[in-house]
Amino acid sequence: MRHLITLEDVSAAEIETIYAITEDLKTKFQAGVREPILPGRMMALLFEKQSLRTRVSFEACMTHLGGGSILLGDDAGFGKRESIADFTRVLSEMVDVIVVRSKKHSTVEEVAKYSKAAVVNGLTDQSHPCQALADLYTLREHVGSLKGRKLAWVGDGNNVAVSLARGCAKLGMSLSVCAPAGYELPEDFLTKLKQSSPDADVTNTTDPKEAVADADAIYTDVWASMGQESEQAQRKKDFADYQVNAELMAAAPKGAVFMHCLPAKRGEEVTDEVIDSPASIVVPQAGNRMHVQKGILVWLMGSQA
Ligand code: CP
Ligand code: NVA
Repeated sequence: MRHLITLEDVSAAEIETIYAITEDLKTKFQAGVREPILPGRMMALLFEKQSLRTRVSFEACMTHLGGGSILLGDDAGFGKRESIADFTRVLSEMVDVIVVRSKKHSTVEEVAKYSKAAVVNGLTDQSHPCQALADLYTLREHVGSLKGRKLAWVGDGNNVAVSLARGCAKLGMSLSVCAPAGYELPEDFLTKLKQSSPDADVTNTTDPKEAVADADAIYTDVWASMGQESEQAQRKKDFADYQVNAELMAAAPKGAVFMHCLPAKRGEEVTDEVIDSPASIVVPQAGNRMHVQKGILVWLMGSQA
């Protein structure tokens, strides 16, 4: 049974397989064709946190592919009525894939431990692999091959940054992480990344202009993620010099694109001027969540056959 808990679960070659399926299905979708290649397959969406993009993109994927989905919110009693082991064993008798958005990363790992069905991480406090796969696919659509390209991450070294770092390492892209002291990518993550991808090119700086100087894409995310609401005010102060605004974009090469996983806090990590500019690819980036997750689901279901 294959799961997608972090991008360590997929090789570079498997990412290429996922992207080839994505490209085929996206081209057909744009021509008005929705191929029902997963008829009768069932997906459960188990969400402990809010979502627009992840929920809708997965539900739309499964419907287009001929399968069905069930959203399990608070009323399912996950983690409250019975053990996670019992919950998961029962759920995976009835569905083929379980997408989990959990507060703690260990929860999605526990679900994977007891599941007979494929488990996909739909965001945890530590990672967001489906987001990174869609982001890198989007970037490739815009700049071509990612080998030797550079992504500048300006902001918190959070769950999205961690998954992008893994994705960049797998696809031969450099990553410059620009965060205030104390908000860099976690040390233990960087140690593991260097072990699994010795050629990973991740550099750190506290100077946003240095980070973007030779970047093909500038990416940011909210300064306080879901679950960090109590730190919002402190983080707003700590990140004040890390806003992606027109002045920072002017320090990047001509043609560099702006990316954001969304939802954005306009006026904090990014200005309206940048997110609404022609350089911004945030909307096609979000749209690609659906296309790339079709690739992920077909790849995972294929490996179940
Ligand atoms: N980017 C992303 O995962 O968005 P949602 O939180 O709306 O799913
Ligand atoms: N870092 C953000 C991403 C939301 C898609 C969060 O975890 O809230």
